[in-house]
Amino acid sequence: MRETLVLKVDPNTPEIKAIRVAAIFIKNGGLVAFPTETVYGLGADALNPKAVRNLFRAKKRPFDNPPIVHVGDFQDVHRLVTEVPEKAERLMDVFWPGPLTLIFKRSKIVPDVTVAGLDTIAIRMPRHNVALALIKESGCPLAAPSANLAGKPSPTTAEHVLEDLNGRIDAVLDAGPTRIGVESTVLDLTVDPPQILRPGGTPLEALKGVLGKVELHPVVVAEKEIAIEKARSPGMKHRHYAPKAEVVVVEGELTAVTKKVAELTDFYRRRKLKVGVLATDETAASYRADVVKSLGSRSSLNAIAKNLFRLLREFDLEGVDVIIAEGVPTEGLGLAVMNRLRKASGYKIVKA
Ligand code: TXA
Ligand code: MG
Repeated sequence: MRETLVLKVDPNTPEIKAIRVAAIFIKNGGLVAFPTETVYGLGADALNPKAVRNLFRAKKRPFDNPPIVHVGDFQDVHRLVTEVPEKAERLMDVFWPGPLTLIFKRSKIVPDVTVAGLDTIAIRMPRHNVALALIKESGCPLAAPSANLAGKPSPTTAEHVLEDLNGRIDAVLDAGPTRIGVESTVLDLTVDPPQILRPGGTPLEALKGVLGKVELHPVVVAEKEIAIEKARSPGMKHRHYAPKAEVVVVEGELTAVTKKVAELTDFYRRRKLKVGVLATDETAASYRADVVKSLGSRSSLNAIAKNLFRLLREFDLEGVDVIIAEGVPTEGLGLAVMNRLRKASGYKIVKA
């Protein structure tokens, strides 16, 4: 096991010395975690197949799930893709740097392992000075999935990165908590109309504002109701963003949701389980669970998105058996929040 170097940097004006140390690791085929505006990423030279293979291994990520390639300027995109459609030009103009990942047809210079053998590539330009400085100093695009072990909630602090990857990666650039807290929106422009493959930091509404028509991939809106009595049954192996505890999401109108969450709390506590409730400021005081945590006020879905992954990790540290989560409206960043919660629950969704 190697030691993971922690490099503290200022998020706005990162110290060039620390960036250079990190860039040397990247140039030598190493792995460096770094902050973006969404979550921390685990970076490797996207054009170095050996480095990218090590990236998959460090995360224990299956080789058929390709990472996002991060660029620092628009010229890089042209090297990595065969064509930049007009819609992409418009989106890059409006949203880059920012939390929007675009799917392009990939060029021959991209190694197979970086795109998991696909003929497409996912690219974004992050809106974070540390990420941009690292890309520039490394002199290459960075393949960077979220810097968590596969299946765990994405990291929004350097501490989260170390919880999962300490000793498995060369270094982490620590610039404090990330601003957005959920990953970028992944948009497929190789189909018409464009399709959101993963809702994230750039809201659907904002994309529609630029493109007119945008669809959600069926997987994004997937929901399968499972009766609560069966909630401990399998399906767990396909969980993502998943804490160790079982997660149940309660969706519906707020008064009904609050009532249902209280009922479920009693149901599980009678079975001697340690229950955590993922609540909001408006409701938190009304619950009598073992641990109650608030995502923030319902008046700010952005604040809720920012806190989500951190709270899921905190529940694990508290050792709860079950997390009962209140659903939130699927507007703005709420769509990304609900997508993560549903996945974390393995689609154990209760309609209130
Ligand atoms: O905000 C983010 O996007 C963060 C930060 C670090 O930039 N990165 C991130 O990467 O979340 P990752 O690898 O954890 O998620 C990449 C997503 C996956 O859902 C993957 O399946 C999808 O992008 N993806 C990658 N390449 C693709 C492709 N060619 N076609 C379709 N989806 C692709
Ligand atoms: Mg990820």
